[in-house]
Amino acid sequence: MIGAPEGLWATARSSHDPWRPAERRRERPERRRERPERRRERPERRRVASGVQTGRRRYHRNVADTPELQAPLIHARGLTKCFGTFTAVDGIDFDVAPGEAFGFLGPNGAGKTSTMRMIGTVSPVTSGELTVFGLDPARDGARIRARLGVVPQADTLDNELSVLENLLIYGRYFGLSWSESRRRAKELLEFVQLTERSNDKVEPLSGGMKRRLVIARSLINEPSLLLLDEPTTGLDPQARHLLWDRLYRLKQRGVTLCLTTHYMDEAEQLCDRLVVMDQAKIVAEGSPRQLIDKYVTKEVLELRFNRADNETDDSAHLGNRLEGLAERVEQLPDRVLAYTADGEAASAKAHERGLRPASVLVRRSSLEDVFLRLTGRSLVE
Ligand SMILES: Nc1ncnc2c1ncn2[C@@H]1O[C@H](COP(=O)(O)OP(=O)(O)OP(=O)(O)O)[C@@H](O)[C@H]1O
Ligand SMILES: [Mg+2]
Repeated sequence: MIGAPEGLWATARSSHDPWRPAERRRERPERRRERPERRRERPERRRVASGVQTGRRRYHRNVADTPELQAPLIHARGLTKCFGTFTAVDGIDFDVAPGEAFGFLGPNGAGKTSTMRMIGTVSPVTSGELTVFGLDPARDGARIRARLGVVPQADTLDNELSVLENLLIYGRYFGLSWSESRRRAKELLEFVQLTERSNDKVEPLSGGMKRRLVIARSLINEPSLLLLDEPTTGLDPQARHLLWDRLYRLKQRGVTLCLTTHYMDEAEQLCDRLVVMDQAKIVAEGSPRQLIDKYVTKEVLELRFNRADNETDDSAHLGNRLEGLAERVEQLPDRVLAYTADGEAASAKAHERGLRPASVLVRRSSLEDVFLRLTGRSLVE
């Protein structure tokens, strides 16, 4: 059986995967029943599709302009996921509004993928409330999936097929005719700048190209909500920027983005609003700016000391000298972080106190600092 949505999210195909072909057949009657509703949704779907296909401006009205008029696309209260006795997601609350870019920022094992899989309806909710498009994932999985685009953490492309074929097969899964599938596939390959690789096999593509292809594949059904699990992990800076640009364009065209990342710069670039997750819980919520303003100072002075220097090797002694240097001082194994409104002034003060660091850096505070403040640990270990 060649590629298709049952591979989404899965690192290995499992008999429990709800997107297996057998279950797809069972879901068909349900899809037919929902036709009237799907017709009602068409204006929104067309707007998204037209944006992707033609870039026509009149379709680009951002639905987030009137968030108060919009019910949340995703609504979670006390959402919990357990694997046996282990709790991977522990009673989290969040809402994602139409048109926004919402992120889960957190380190390895925080529970991000477990949360995304519940939203994607491929992993049952253990307890708590979850609705997607106002629907219940347990009852309305097929209806939700029809309107979702999914970019899983691990690429699940079919290496046996060409770039174009990967999209065509996907289009067929969503019930598109071959000609419609082909039309959309061509437009999407254009959108992710892979037209020239259309007939190539997937295997030799670069990591960034594969990621772009998975994004194109996730858009074949013209979803209004795109779930992206670690969209740029492992990519080089150029590939990441290209992907960010495509995601930004999608957002401009009204597609709601819900993504996970452990890159603070990605969260800052892409997310209107995010939650910081750690050890299965949400520890903070807000826009990147709000989180920085709330939890850290405007600037950070970073001091690195030469460990061979006996005087500075004594961390207690160093601690004394750092006291009062800034609003808050963190001593990490490899550097000292002094949180202050004025990094240059703190640097001058450190010099006056006789501190002679091997390197000095004054920078703006980031979400990394927020995470450190909230958890006492660094985001990327
Ligand atoms: N199917 C499973 N069975 C048992 N435990 C699981 C399963 N899936 C995830 N877990 C555990 O749940 C926790 C959260 O995992 P999850 O994949 O959601 O984290 P994550 O935030 O996505 O991490 P990463 O950044 O590494 O992708 C981890 O401790 C993981 O080992
Ligand atoms: Mg994950």
